[in-house]
Amino acid sequence: MSIQEEKISELIAKRAEARLGGGEKAIIKQHERGKYTARERIAMLLDEGSFEELDMFVTHRCTNFGMEKKHPLGDGVVTGFGTIDGRLVYVFAQDFTVLGGSLSETMAQKICKVMDLAMKMGAPCIGLNDSGGARIQEGINALGGYAEIFQRNILASGVIPQISAILGPCAGGAVYSPALTDFTIMTKGLSYMFLTGPSVVKTVTGEDVTQEQLGGASVHASKSGVTHFATETEEEALQLIRKLISYIPQNNLEETPLVECKDPIDRLEDKLNDIIPDSPKRSYDMYEVISAIVDDSEFLEVQPDYAKNIIIGFARMNGQSVGIVANQPKVLAGVLDSNASRKAARFVRFCDCFNIPLVTLVDVPGFLPGTGQEYNGVILHGAKLLYAYGEATVPKVTVTLRKSYGGSHIVMSCKQLRGDVNYAWPSSEIAVMGAEGAVGVLYAKEAKTQENPAEFKLQKEEEYRNLFANPYQAAKFGYIDDIIEPRNTRFRVIKALNMLATKKQTNPAKKHGNIPL
Ligand code: HXC
Repeated sequence: MSIQEEKISELIAKRAEARLGGGEKAIIKQHERGKYTARERIAMLLDEGSFEELDMFVTHRCTNFGMEKKHPLGDGVVTGFGTIDGRLVYVFAQDFTVLGGSLSETMAQKICKVMDLAMKMGAPCIGLNDSGGARIQEGINALGGYAEIFQRNILASGVIPQISAILGPCAGGAVYSPALTDFTIMTKGLSYMFLTGPSVVKTVTGEDVTQEQLGGASVHASKSGVTHFATETEEEALQLIRKLISYIPQNNLEETPLVECKDPIDRLEDKLNDIIPDSPKRSYDMYEVISAIVDDSEFLEVQPDYAKNIIIGFARMNGQSVGIVANQPKVLAGVLDSNASRKAARFVRFCDCFNIPLVTLVDVPGFLPGTGQEYNGVILHGAKLLYAYGEATVPKVTVTLRKSYGGSHIVMSCKQLRGDVNYAWPSSEIAVMGAEGAVGVLYAKEAKTQENPAEFKLQKEEEYRNLFANPYQAAKFGYIDDIIEPRNTRFRVIKALNMLATKKQTNPAKKHGNIPL
């Protein structure tokens, strides 16, 4: 064997060693846990054969607690770049088979390297997290590594899309990198996120909770809103990332990818003419409206199990990605509350960062009243949504279907918040408040003097409805650009979006605004 051949076979052997991560036994254990290895995950995430690995030979520099005797190649994270549907993405995947995927100074450097490349090239960065947290043997150097990653997450925010999958443990301060990214995906039963684990919780608060109850995927998908998606399997999680990426541009300076649209843009949906019930107290399902107006009824819902009174997600209209925000009359009558406001505000800001037009479907009776909401800061949370819409400069098309009352009318992308095209269905009621409430305030004293106060109130409510419970008052002042036939909504929205395609709008120069956090 020549010297060169020897060198090449040494390289091949080292590569094989690196590819084995923590070794065969550890891989078997990982599979027994029901989890894939870092490399298997990357293979499922990216286009076949597209992955180019970087830093395979990096090892840690720690000499504490026997670490000088083990130098696993790659140091517990697989990093590199590849493509999703032919588009460049950067990826890092923590390898739990190597020292529990724990984060060392050098692992952080590897992660930071791909983040820096993603920023330079203007391409999404995807993190697959599966880690026991800061590498205990490294102490403060591991913490410093986390901070380096967080700083990059912050600077990359709004410049390139950042997506985190949590496919195993993610505890302590480690949770903050995913929390800083745009979308988080967790797998049910296999992943958890919390700041302090069950044993610390027991010591501090006396509560008995399991890992799953404290920070499992279902909890974060429905109660805390920390995760945007919870999937049954890892395969599903990785496919979901591919789908999500298909709706978003590579960076903040690019437009969203256009997809060929085979669904007729002028498709009439007769059922929408009948969807609004005669009684204002009866509900209908906003999902039916969304699926009727978007291309091929395809809708990628974000946070489907959290604050269900508002629906957010991605769809396409005439092949163009749009962000849909819609009140859901079926849940709490579509009322806005703290959680719904926070959920929608973050989504509106994401779409605005990445040039994704917003289509808002309004049927909102107001903000949820009560001490529960007020003590919880609904004023600030509602202001977030208001701020997000008012700040957004992407094309904004709003359709009011039924109720649009008071403050919630303003918040839901009204004309004066720089709504570009605001349509209303004939069934819409755009007013300060509903008829019952208004008459209760305006005629409280007069009603008492009537022979039949109930009848008097009904009569006044009728008067109020005739005057205000319709879209014509708003249209009279130009706050509504047109009143449209419901079955024609798809076509009208698409025409509005086409017209807005060249929209240019800027906000005053500033360091950054001060959104009410
Ligand atoms: C070093 C670690 C490690 C860590 C796990 N390992 N976590 N090594 N530092 N943080 C090692 C284990 O020693 C073990 O090595 C291997 O990884 C697999 O771990 P197991 O315990 O066998 O796996 P499992 O039973 O599945 O349990 C997983 C676990 C547990 C629940 C994550 O390992 C664990 O509790 N780890 C410690 C978690 C933690 O407290 N981390 C620090 C959090 S504070 P061998 O050689 O036996 O295979 C933090 C601060 C971040 O992260 C701050 C950022 C600002």
